[in-house]
Amino acid sequence: MMQVFADMEQLSQAAVALIADRAYQAVEERGRFCMALSGGSTPRRTYQRLARSPYREQLPWQQVHVFWGDERCVAEDDPRSNLRLAREALLDHVSVPSGQIHPMACAADPEAAAAAYQGLLQEFFAPGKPHFDLILLGLGQDGHTASLLPGTPAPQETVRMVIPVQTGREDFARLTLTVPVINQARLVVFLVSGRDKAGILRQVLDGTGQSGFPAQRIVPEQGEVIWLADRDAANLEA
Ligand code: 6PG
Repeated sequence: MMQVFADMEQLSQAAVALIADRAYQAVEERGRFCMALSGGSTPRRTYQRLARSPYREQLPWQQVHVFWGDERCVAEDDPRSNLRLAREALLDHVSVPSGQIHPMACAADPEAAAAAYQGLLQEFFAPGKPHFDLILLGLGQDGHTASLLPGTPAPQETVRMVIPVQTGREDFARLTLTVPVINQARLVVFLVSGRDKAGILRQVLDGTGQSGFPAQRIVPEQGEVIWLADRDAANLEA
């Protein structure tokens, strides 16, 4: 399902409303809300809005567990760090207990960090498989999502839940959740904004379920996927 909004502000407000709704529901049904955040620039407004009234006061932050869908393996204070983005825009302003914030700390040793994060997920969600209540994702112009980058083996991974990704084009590695674990989520929400995403958004949606672009592999087994796009990104003429 795709919903289209006039601009980034309305897109972000819709994302916040969706997150709030699912947080209340998850806490009521299961006593906790487990969300994986994305990086990139698009979610910043969503995070900032979540950190403002009324959400800052009203959301059940004490029952929220925060994970990441992917991370750039750089220092925590590096401007490219997805943890830094989430901290500055959201986590420094709301009362999620620090033990419930689970960054992908991968700057030192991405391979070991991937194995450790997978272990964390297995333990956290035991005895079942990891079922995130909500995973936020973005869409890259090359069709990537999370750090499932085309031209790397990452989109094809079927066994591991978390893997390191190295492109050779970037001077840092990345860590990413893999397709199988993303597809076990109850809800996946893509945030897509801007005219430069219009072409790839249309191609991805036209072929969802195919394996050409990594984002097309995101088809939750039992959950839902919702695409929130602004008018520029959804522009069918682009
Ligand atoms: C990351 C990502 C990545 C991102 C897309 C879209 O690089 O950390 O999580 O998958 O979501 O590249 O990025 P924008 O929101 O900046 O367009």
